[in-house]
Amino acid sequence: MTLDRISANGSEQTLLILGASGDLTSRLLLPGLATLFASWAAPRLRLLGSGRTRWDDERWRAQIGHAFANGGVVGSAAAATIASARYLPADVTQKSDWDALLQECGSPLAILFALPPAVTAAACQALESVRLPEDTSLVLEKPFGTDAASAVALNNLLARLVPEDRVHRIDHFLGKSSVLNLLGLRFANRVFEPVLNADHVEKVDVVFDERLGLEGRAAYYDNAGALVDMIQSHLLQIVALLAMEAPPSLSAAELRDRKAQVLRATRIWDDDPARCSRRARYTAGEIDGRRLPAYADEQGVDATRQTETLAEVVVGVDTWRWAGVPFRLRSGKALGARRQEAVITFRPAQRVPTGLTGYEQPDRIRVGFSPAQLSLDINVNGPGDAFGIDRATLVADFGAGTLSAYGEILAGVFDQDPTLSIRGDTAVDCWRIVEPVLAAWRENRVPLEEYPAGSAGLPAL
Ligand code: BG6
Repeated sequence: MTLDRISANGSEQTLLILGASGDLTSRLLLPGLATLFASWAAPRLRLLGSGRTRWDDERWRAQIGHAFANGGVVGSAAAATIASARYLPADVTQKSDWDALLQECGSPLAILFALPPAVTAAACQALESVRLPEDTSLVLEKPFGTDAASAVALNNLLARLVPEDRVHRIDHFLGKSSVLNLLGLRFANRVFEPVLNADHVEKVDVVFDERLGLEGRAAYYDNAGALVDMIQSHLLQIVALLAMEAPPSLSAAELRDRKAQVLRATRIWDDDPARCSRRARYTAGEIDGRRLPAYADEQGVDATRQTETLAEVVVGVDTWRWAGVPFRLRSGKALGARRQEAVITFRPAQRVPTGLTGYEQPDRIRVGFSPAQLSLDINVNGPGDAFGIDRATLVADFGAGTLSAYGEILAGVFDQDPTLSIRGDTAVDCWRIVEPVLAAWRENRVPLEEYPAGSAGLPAL
């Protein structure tokens, strides 16, 4: 859908990346852009980079060239983007630097803030006294603010700069094809949707366990932790897609309304954050023969901050459809096994006929995010004893999407389509949901536990 619309748009666009010399740009943004070029879906693009690091145009072009080469990008459009790319050192918290930067920018313009939240907020403040080109979009990385109050303040500030539809609050999980696959699974067949409700579902687990540790990201991560880094953003978005009502179309207004409805109704289970959350950080250990130091000893970490690398929270979605069904969200780093899936566990069969034996486990739908796979674990009888219950697993591979998650998100930006970005009220709601947990942790009502790197983490709540 998006790809055709973008290619049809022949006018040149400018993308200005702030924080261009940073890790996010090289690790995710440029490779994402490469997937757009590789599938011939990029607009004619002028790519400007900016940062406080004193790079020059050559260095920036080499960086882009490297990402494009790795992504197998060829062709004159990509070559033109590389040749016209410029790197402009600037302190974007200063109005005077903005004046110089904007001189280089055409319209439509997308400004992407790949910056820490505090710097993003200061940069937006500086923009208040600058005249932005017509058709400017502002693209902000997560976390959006640092709590509900700062998210509200940032929303108000952004509203003074551009219309809401031109604000793209990025959550790259919404660009993952495996997450988008939830839409077809739920709303393009009659098999699952009628049973996805509190009458039939016992619980839902959304798990994103990684084997990666800190990976040199202390400057960001030590101020965030697993709850803010993963649950407050990505996993709540998955809950919204799993729990929302059917939208009549996938337009930005419809989809974002349905998601907002779910998140407005979401709160910590029993309003008891101390009982319904846990936190832990990894101690030294080994993953695949690789030694990891304890998180507290990682370079750049301030151990007294007590930042967690594993978080688990149980929430409830208080709607007619889902009231009473616990949604357990968990994410951890440096774990022995990578497990990234949503699991919908059904209630037991109402009555298994006397004479059928061996009924032990309920049915489950598993939506794997990596690899992208749908599995249905169901009870059947056979093979062998026709009166004995066995488990069968039906598996469908979703396969990889054409675009990477960031490619998909950038496609939305270039197409001026905010469908996959987080609406302002939703960004605030996601903070509102986790704030009781953050408060309980600050007050030490939940102990900070430990798990060795490479282990299974903690047993589930
Ligand atoms: C990022 C988090 O948003 O998502 C990282 O900051 C995490 O800590 C990453 O590792 C996971 O996403 P992906 O797409 O790399 O699996």
